[in-house]
Amino acid sequence: MDTYSHGGIPNKSGRDPVLKDAKVLFIVGGPGSGKGTQCAKIVEKFGFCHLSSGDLLREEVASGSERGAKLKDVMARGELVSMDDVLQLMCDAMKKKISETKCFLIDGYPRELEQGTRFEKEIVPCVGVLYFDVSDETMTSRLLKRGETSGRVDDNEETIKKRLQTFHNQTKPVIDYYSQQDKVCKIPAEGSEKDIFAEVEKYVSSHKW
Ligand code: AP5
Repeated sequence: MDTYSHGGIPNKSGRDPVLKDAKVLFIVGGPGSGKGTQCAKIVEKFGFCHLSSGDLLREEVASGSERGAKLKDVMARGELVSMDDVLQLMCDAMKKKISETKCFLIDGYPRELEQGTRFEKEIVPCVGVLYFDVSDETMTSRLLKRGETSGRVDDNEETIKKRLQTFHNQTKPVIDYYSQQDKVCKIPAEGSEKDIFAEVEKYVSSHKW
């Protein structure tokens, strides 16, 4: 029986041979915690490859595919899309970039514990987890402000509430799990983008890539 459920090539270890040497940082935090903003700065400074699960999903929606139409409804409700869909999109995107990068920033993933354990079993274990810690009030006000111009189906008051609930119920256990493995770097992220990046930079620079 195949050891993959997302369409990769099975091997004895259960991992994709193409991605076995990839280095991965998981980037987690609630909606509007600044994951994307800080990833852009890491890319600029360190040249890593940024893959956002939300962006990959929005690209699929924009493609007009049948799968995209289903994804759009789930995202508009602020819920999590199917793990198979997001893992497959992520794996395919990583394969396209593996020859160009020394480290992947996997942004907005894992959002539930099994996403993390499956990724590590089927692709590669993560080096660490960057967690942006921000209050619900700050995240809500950032997203409402962005919603004035973003055109995103989920940047509205009702969906933001649901996204926050989804984060607390489903993503917090991910942070607990990796904290027990001593893999989490928690960044207080209420301040300015510049101050937050100073902390991010210290963490990234402390690793050998
Ligand atoms: P996704 O696109 O990942 O959205 P999100 O995590 O809810 O939040 P954002 O990406 O919008 O925020 P961010 O933390 O990147 O903050 P940003 O830097 O943009 O996911 C959308 C949906 O897709 C999910 O709800 C789910 O349905 C689905 N999905 C995604 N991944 C999935 C997965 N793995 N499994 C299942 N389903 C999945 O900043 C936000 C705003 O704040 C910006 O306007 C920015 O300019 C501003 N800002 C940032 N930093 C600061 C600062 N320090 N001070 C002031 N303003 C700031």
